[in-house]
Amino acid sequence: MTLPVAVLVSGSGSNLQAILDRIEAGRIDARITAVLSNRADAQGLVRAAAHGIPALALPHGDYPDRTAYDAALLAAVRQSGAEAVVLAGFMRILGPDFVAAYRDRILNIHPALLPSFPGVRGPADAAAYGVAIAGATVHFVDEKMDNGPIVIQAAVPARPDDDAAALAARILAFEHRIYPQALAWLASGRLTLDGRKTRLAPAAIPPADMADAGPCLVNPPLEQGF
Ligand code: GRF
Repeated sequence: MTLPVAVLVSGSGSNLQAILDRIEAGRIDARITAVLSNRADAQGLVRAAAHGIPALALPHGDYPDRTAYDAALLAAVRQSGAEAVVLAGFMRILGPDFVAAYRDRILNIHPALLPSFPGVRGPADAAAYGVAIAGATVHFVDEKMDNGPIVIQAAVPARPDDDAAALAARILAFEHRIYPQALAWLASGRLTLDGRKTRLAPAAIPPADMADAGPCLVNPPLEQGF
């Protein structure tokens, strides 16, 4: 059954776009019910509207506190009919009521190899630290920031002359592959949680081949089409 998903964005929405493209290519059995943003000027809202998807700005400054904002966001997500939630560059922490309402059905992407470099400066912190391998992580969301069980990670090389922007761009290219892949797995019911471990069931029809990740390591491996 096609999974109805709400996507939350704060900015460009390039991950939203990657997901939309894979849905439209028939690679993900999901339907985006709404795109919501805490910023009215988020480019992600424009991308959603261009695909005929309801796009709604819910500026957090319009609400007296976090609890009120969380309740409004949850109401809008529920109203859309979503059964799962994808955070695609959403720069707010979801409150406990929201997480409880969609427990184990919220995904986030973080531009670092968690648990290293959590927080909003992931690629900048990794570049400043001088890591040789950086990356991205898709994980389930729990009450703590950048903390829930990991679904998939991509490791990409970092170079000594990388600044934050260069490293972030190299990571982002892989975000656009692993996030649609993770959502495809969630939508097809292949993910189960066992404490902190995420288990991936084999595909009903085994993919003919794995996708080529080039010089990067992606685990679990990307399947054909991602
Ligand atoms: C991505 O790097 C994502 O990992 C981080 O915020 C950025 C969002 O980019 N959480 P976009 O809005 O999807 O283009």
